[in-house]
Amino acid sequence: MVNKLSKGPSGSQKFSRTLVTAALPYANGPIHLGHLAGAYLPADIYVRYMRLKRDDVIFICGSDEHGVAVTITAEKEGLSPQQIVDRYHAMNKESFEKFGMTFDNYSRTTLPVHHQTGQEFFLELYRQNVLVEKSEKQLYCENDRMFLADRYVEGTCPVCGNPEARGDQCEKCGTWLEQTQLINPKCKLCGTTPVVRETKHWYFPLGKFQKELEEYVNSKEWKENVRGYIDSWLKEGLEDRAITRDLHWGIPVPLQGYENKVIYVWFEAVLGYISSTKELGLKRQDKDLWKRYWQDDTTRYIAFIGKDNIVFHTLIFPAILMGWNKGGKSRYVLPDTVPANEFLNFEGKKFSKSRGWGIDLKDFIGVFPPDTLRYALALNLPESRDSDFYWKDFQARVNNELADTLGNFVNRTLQFVQRYYDGKVPPTKTTEELDRWALGQMKDIPAKVGALFDEFKFRDGVVEAMSLARAANKYFNDSEPWRTRRENPDQCATTINICVQLTRALAVLLSPVIPFAAEDIWEMLALEGSAADAGWDTIPKPAVESGKQIGQLKILFSKIEDSTIEEQIRNTASGEETQEKAVAPTTAPLKPTVSIDDFRKIDLRVAKIIDCEKVAKSEKLLRIEVQIGSETRQIIAGISKHYAPESLVGKDVIVVANLAPAKLMGLESNGMLLAASSEDGKLSLLTTFSGIDSGSIVR
Ligand code: 2FM
Ligand code: ZN
Repeated sequence: MVNKLSKGPSGSQKFSRTLVTAALPYANGPIHLGHLAGAYLPADIYVRYMRLKRDDVIFICGSDEHGVAVTITAEKEGLSPQQIVDRYHAMNKESFEKFGMTFDNYSRTTLPVHHQTGQEFFLELYRQNVLVEKSEKQLYCENDRMFLADRYVEGTCPVCGNPEARGDQCEKCGTWLEQTQLINPKCKLCGTTPVVRETKHWYFPLGKFQKELEEYVNSKEWKENVRGYIDSWLKEGLEDRAITRDLHWGIPVPLQGYENKVIYVWFEAVLGYISSTKELGLKRQDKDLWKRYWQDDTTRYIAFIGKDNIVFHTLIFPAILMGWNKGGKSRYVLPDTVPANEFLNFEGKKFSKSRGWGIDLKDFIGVFPPDTLRYALALNLPESRDSDFYWKDFQARVNNELADTLGNFVNRTLQFVQRYYDGKVPPTKTTEELDRWALGQMKDIPAKVGALFDEFKFRDGVVEAMSLARAANKYFNDSEPWRTRRENPDQCATTINICVQLTRALAVLLSPVIPFAAEDIWEMLALEGSAADAGWDTIPKPAVESGKQIGQLKILFSKIEDSTIEEQIRNTASGEETQEKAVAPTTAPLKPTVSIDDFRKIDLRVAKIIDCEKVAKSEKLLRIEVQIGSETRQIIAGISKHYAPESLVGKDVIVVANLAPAKLMGLESNGMLLAASSEDGKLSLLTTFSGIDSGSIVR
């Protein structure tokens, strides 16, 4: 089947199928309303609409399980990264299902199929000499003894001045950063200022793709907000980007000499769309399925994301695919368009996990039906600029529009059928001007809504769709069936018949937005199949036969009480307070249990400090000479802000005596002093309770 998309971004080009992806959310925290408004809800509305039009479409997503976002959460909680991603993958998958997301597949980037895909792309680009190996300066924390990949470092964004920009990206202005560009960088683990060191990495030469990317971008149509971002990056000029990292969590770099490095999470996460499609093919026993959707140029590919992901989907992912395509093995399709949304704020402020500001999907749908959220968010999508979610606004939408307009119309109509027609749809007898007007509304609406959905204008599309419910209510009121029932029974039968037709039309028309209510209506009408696959083309015409027996009635939407909303408003405020308390100095969570044998591997000794001085050009390092029994050695420690060198001479301290040597600012350090440190930055060296010889074992 070849569908000509009425107003697809690529104009007259013919497509046989559509591939829709939604950003793979990090499995390091719960999905919140901001995520839904950014990418997931519009994607699901679109896919449901495509399916109603009988287009060949698949909807792909999954958890993004690698990267520093995950390892930082794991470190904070004292768990392994695997434990973190297992928890949030299951949680998010379940919340999405309850919210009515209809992914054809929801995969995980830790699966073998994804690791193979990531390594295959890396090796293909390596073999084609697309990738470049470079030795570059990176930030290194001498205290934690590691290179600070991505989110392990935070500093001020050189572009917008956001003081919380990460090592790879500023979330506020969307700029993709090199970590050495950060102003006043700080290690996220210990808060100290890192130093710059050389390390080797593989780079993706984005700059070389600039021209091709410009041609690609100019050949497609983009939403205005998206095009704005793309143009500013292209204007600035694209630069080479490191695609390997000094981390242990991720897809191993499949090259000798790189055993301790992994592929950069953003390089492989975008490939997760491909591996998730491969997994879908395996589940459906259709092993070539993924090739049809990814490697056939009659596929139209649409990638739904939030604004912080724009550069990765409009420039980097297309460049990676272009790189592969040059090899001539096979050709991948590039995104036809990327309908990214801006941000949704919550009660006037940015969603913030750390400040406890916002509400998670899981908690929301524990209190309110999913359709109420889908509807309220759909009307408030940040399609061209940031928008806000307010509890009061949510309540008003549900009460005035879903309950009073849609719910009331459906209820009035079906009650009438039950009460006065013995539960059977009455026949149309005479049609007057008012009846023709109502039928006309039904006839015209799908084309109007469809045209808006085709252009990714979901807000306007939903407003338009709801206008049919308003028209239907008006029709019911103006026709006065409670009066004509006695005075003009034929007219009354016609009115109620048309109201039943409108009820069915509303179920199909609104099913992409409020799928659960749509199926409830379907059940009340006792129709075959489901509203979701009734077909978009069945909306305009009457399709419920007269004489049909309807089913049991139920209330579609209950009104939300003021007290319920006030409780939510109170919870929102107390969520922020609790979080504020939680970030005040408290006990860090315990690390996983170790065996006594593991503990015994660490050789702790009493050491006497015999000399101590500041390390030149370092703000925080002290060079300390200690005596451990008969042996003297040098230890470099980052405690200069806490102790004056002379105050330490003569003190007994506890050291890790069998720690592998390390170099700090060119000086060899043989061991580590133990100190207690609190969250608010205080530090105290460990010493012995009463005089005991240096070299004594601490156990
Ligand atoms: O911003 C995020 O949540 C990323 N995990 C999105 C990744 S989209 C794609 F690359 F998988
Ligand atoms: Zn550090």
